[in-house]
Order: sequence, then C-alpha cells, then structure tokens
Amino acid sequence: MTMDAVHPRVLGYLGRALSLELTAVQQYMTQASLVELWGDKAAADRFREETVEEMQHAERIVQHMLSLGVAPAASQLQAVTHAPDLVGLLEHNAVLETQLINHYAEATRFCAVIRDEANAAFFQSLWDEEQHHGEELDAWLRELGGGRSRGYGAYSANRLARRNPNQRATF
Ligand SMILES: [Fe+2]
Ligand SMILES: [Fe+2]
Repeated sequence: MTMDAVHPRVLGYLGRALSLELTAVQQYMTQASLVELWGDKAAADRFREETVEEMQHAERIVQHMLSLGVAPAASQLQAVTHAPDLVGLLEHNAVLETQLINHYAEATRFCAVIRDEANAAFFQSLWDEEQHHGEELDAWLRELGGGRSRGYGAYSANRLARRNPNQRATF
C-alpha cells in the first residue's frame, strides 16, 4: 500500500496507539519506583521489564508511522493512577491493558474491512502481544489473590468476550 493510500482512520489508530503505549510506559515506570520505595524489589524489577516492553511497542509504532511518512505525535497521556498496594496498582494496569487490547482489536478489524492487510497485520501483532501481557497480568493478580475490584471483574469478562474476535464482526 502506498503512503497516500493510507486511510486517515488508520493514522488515527496509530496516533492513539502511541498515546496509550506511552501512557503505559509512564505508568509502569512510576510504579517501579513506587514499589521500590515500598521495599518490593521483585515487583519493581517486573514493572521495569514491562516498561521496556511498552517502550518497544511505542518504538515500533514510531517506526511504522515514519515508514508511512507520518510524523509521530502522541496526544495527551493519561495521568498515572494510584493505589495503596500492589494488587490495587495491578488492577489499574488491567484497565489500561484492556484499553490497549480493545484498541488493537478495533484497529485490526477496521483494517481488515478496508482490505489494508499490511496495517491489519501490524495491529494484529500488537494485539497478540497485549493479550499475552493481559494473561500474564491475570496470573500475577491471581498469585496475589487479586481480582477483588469491580474493574478487574469487568476486565476479565471483557477479555473472555474478546477471545474469539473473528466471530464478532463489528463493522
Ligand atoms: Fe504495549
Ligand atoms: Fe501491555
């Protein structure tokens, strides 16, 4: 697909993806420092790894936008959420990861509908990675006895509903 054939909505999906990924970078980086202050070195290390992963996603989006001839420009980042304990932080992260999963699901479906296979594949690979991240987060929360809040319950239900996305055409 040539540069000028990219649907403007696809560029919109890329811009919002960059904003969400950079929001995740800011959130997980902050949490790494916070839980270190709480004395939880293991959780700090894990948040640092997640920060790097989200940074790499942001970099892939920047590279992809450049390849399409678009200047990357994330819009406003969401404020870092706060909670009094690790489970609370992870529940906030589950909400953010759900935003990412839903965003990539929608972007992938839209690209498939307009037969933009290259961008569909790009969004699909990020979608797969965020779903995998969501599953790891689920497991971490279960280890900690999490899943208490309504936000987490909604997150789990939502993720299950989206597990078979191809059967849920929304366009
Ligand atoms: Fe990401
Ligand atoms: Fe993620």
